[in-house]
Amino acid sequence: SIAMRQDILDLIERLPKEVQNLLEAVSETAEEEECSVYIVGGFVRDLLLSVPTQDLDFVVEGSGGQFAQALMRRIPDGKLTQHIKFGTAQIIFPDGSHLDIASTRWEHYSFPGALPQVEESCLRDDLFRRDFTINSMAICLNTERFGELVDYYGGKQDLQQRKIRFLHNISFIDDPTRMLRAIRFAERYHFDFAKETLDALHTAIETGVLSKLSVERFTEEVLLIFREVNYLAMGQILVESGLFKAWFGKELAWNFNLDDAENSKDWSINMRWLVSVSQMESAEIGTLLERVILNRSLRDETIAYVQLRESLMERLTISEMDRLLNKAPKEVVIVLARDERFKVRILECLEAGQRINMSLDGKALLQMGLKQGPEIGEILDRVRMAWLEGRISTSEEEQGMARQWVNTQR
Ligand code: CTP
Repeated sequence: SIAMRQDILDLIERLPKEVQNLLEAVSETAEEEECSVYIVGGFVRDLLLSVPTQDLDFVVEGSGGQFAQALMRRIPDGKLTQHIKFGTAQIIFPDGSHLDIASTRWEHYSFPGALPQVEESCLRDDLFRRDFTINSMAICLNTERFGELVDYYGGKQDLQQRKIRFLHNISFIDDPTRMLRAIRFAERYHFDFAKETLDALHTAIETGVLSKLSVERFTEEVLLIFREVNYLAMGQILVESGLFKAWFGKELAWNFNLDDAENSKDWSINMRWLVSVSQMESAEIGTLLERVILNRSLRDETIAYVQLRESLMERLTISEMDRLLNKAPKEVVIVLARDERFKVRILECLEAGQRINMSLDGKALLQMGLKQGPEIGEILDRVRMAWLEGRISTSEEEQGMARQWVNTQR
């Protein structure tokens, strides 16, 4: 309707200037290329919800590749990548953000979880192959129709009624990542599931649809959840729905129920991850790691966490502990310091570490007459240990101790 169109124009006017300019450039390119162009998916959803959005997805009725090339003339600082096979193109900006251009198309999934095959088709079909009604709207950007909402599947109504509703009931079979996406959107916007969608989600979990999903795509979706402000609520649903159990083959002791959930807002992804696995036994974390493919840093930290936790269960001297804590990634130490079993000992050790006020160094030892060699490192280690254990507490005592050891070495 005309009123709706005006509402959308108003919403667009409130967007950052760069985004408005970009929509303008796309609009002008459409006139030049004489084709219809729409902005679709998450952008439209977030525009209508008045929340900020990241990615821009365009659909061109015609050749996406040719359109992208024409658009590049108006975006000189972009970098164009084309995926001819899928009829899509991507333009990446210097700040890392990007926009995607697709040709209207119909994707046939040759087997569940596979990459889409492409055929030309019209906008209605393009929108129909999407995951949820709230993600299936488009806004036309051609000059004459600029701001016109295209909503074949009731997306606007579901936004208003705060519902996550799939477009057809084999949606989760077509693409099992949508099970995780459904949970992510529901908790991100505090929406409910439409009844059929919730039923289908449960059926999909029970009938083992997840087994069609690759470990890579599953991991990717799970890590997207850890980026969300509300990841704790999402995690709880992944556990309660049985989705995680279905994927990992057994119930793992996930920890998404935090007393200090407020703090988690500022945590890094790695920190959030480590806290969420911190109630699992080592063997459980082993099972977990077999069913996800983490990036290097997350995997290394998870393993470092298990190793340090096992070491801390042993009886350690304060200097052994000091060495281990210094070697471990900072986040691993922070997460272990939240564990009641280790808290006091870790804090004591860190405090002892802070009281160390070493003025001695290798050069000082050489001046005392020690020869260059491994003994220098050994003596420095022993002096640090003496500080930690409280056997020395002043520079004079430190000097005296070092001198004594230097003399026995000579
Ligand atoms: N989409 C889909 N099925 C998927 C992934 C994506 O139908 N498994 C469609 C949806 O229409 C979605 C669009 O592709 O809106 C873009 O996908 P993506 O960028 O992953 O999601 P956004 O909706 O933009 O969500 P986010 O805010 O998390 O980026």
